[in-house]
Amino acid sequence: MDRLKLDVNGCFDPAAGGLARAELAALAPAARGAFDALEARRKSGDVGFADLPADGGAAEAAVRLAGDLAGRFENLLVLGIGGSSLGGRAIVSALCHPFHNLLPRERRGAMRVFFPDNSDPATFEALLATLDLGETCFATITKSGGTAETMAQHLALRERCLARFGEEGYRDRCVLVTDPAKGALRAIAGAERLRALSVPANVGGRFSALSAVGLLPAAAAGADVVELLAGAAAMEARCRTPATSENPALLYAAALHLMDRRKGRHIHVLMPYADALRDTGDWFVQLWAESLGKRSEVGPTPFRAVGATDQHSSMQLMMEGPHDKVVTFVRVAQPRADVSIVVPQIYAGYAEIAYLHGHTMGELIEAERRASEAALRRAGRPTVSIELPRLDARAMGELLMLLELATAYAGGLYGVNAFDQPGVEAGKRYAQGLLGRPGFEKYRDELAGAAAPDPALVLS
Ligand code: PA5
Repeated sequence: MDRLKLDVNGCFDPAAGGLARAELAALAPAARGAFDALEARRKSGDVGFADLPADGGAAEAAVRLAGDLAGRFENLLVLGIGGSSLGGRAIVSALCHPFHNLLPRERRGAMRVFFPDNSDPATFEALLATLDLGETCFATITKSGGTAETMAQHLALRERCLARFGEEGYRDRCVLVTDPAKGALRAIAGAERLRALSVPANVGGRFSALSAVGLLPAAAAGADVVELLAGAAAMEARCRTPATSENPALLYAAALHLMDRRKGRHIHVLMPYADALRDTGDWFVQLWAESLGKRSEVGPTPFRAVGATDQHSSMQLMMEGPHDKVVTFVRVAQPRADVSIVVPQIYAGYAEIAYLHGHTMGELIEAERRASEAALRRAGRPTVSIELPRLDARAMGELLMLLELATAYAGGLYGVNAFDQPGVEAGKRYAQGLLGRPGFEKYRDELAGAAAPDPALVLS
């Protein structure tokens, strides 16, 4: 069948010092435990990401709202950070034209979508100065409804819209995506009568790509969100078994976990050979890091690379650096039909170039992928291969669900809660103390009372 393929042979290569099949067999009870733990949390209603594909209503609402905005505006600004931005961006860049925002409207057939993400004022100001505000609307996306970076952007844009377009113009331009009941933004939606979509209460930021968080920007950019959810649903269905011989997400989590714990391979690289999946790599890094880095003791380090670009960069480290990495290659089996650049025959006299003649650029990047994977394995470096039949909405849905489920299972194997992020809270509290939030004075004072830096270690 035409579906995502996972191959972990590259972790079980005896010649390359890989894992023994017996080690995978011995992990079966723990893998079942991780599977059962997730199932139990799903059944109790505590964890909801894997049930998102079944919610056709969310896709319908996102498509309807996106259609309404597209009828009146050219640009959509997605104000969000972390899980409230990375998933949407990954979907849009995977499924839309690589230069979507640069295309004229008639070729684009959908809105231009921007993800400022960070609260760096230089980027945000430049973006606002570049876009025609009259043709721009914005979606403020925050699950908690009060994230500082997102709300600062929202408030700045709100003020500009009110000044230029009045209350109705602001209301027309602003949509929200947030918790159905909790948080400041939900209350603001009610008070200001703003249109708002909900992220289910049991879906956390980095697991929310398949909720309105990712669906709204994706639909606005013209992606097929119904097929996206269909692909995710197909993967979720494939993973309804605790057997690693059948459940691809559980097998992937088990292989990476064993590699970390038994072989010291604690750096997990995701390396798609497709620019369109570069942002998916960034999304995976957040998912794996924020979910699994816990209790000062657990946490593989995720790393994003892109082939062939990184063959001229971090590949040297993967090939000859410490034996601490597993590289997951992501291959798109069938390239897009409209992409077929053939290298012309011009410099036949130069042997170091002439061999390229007549090959397509697609053949070149595929040869680079095969060669790098083989070279890594020959050098005793473990690899995993994920193959997408093609890069379309269905395959993207499969990939996102595979990686989300694998993350949840890995949490079970490591014995940590993959769905919280207590480690990022301390920094937030100090920042709020510094910015004068009432009740947070003690954090400001703690920073003020910190030991002075040793001048011998400061060069200025
Ligand atoms: O995964 C998470 O929970 C975080 O990365 C959040 O997505 C991020 O902090 C943004 O949170 P919020 O959506 O509440 O603004």
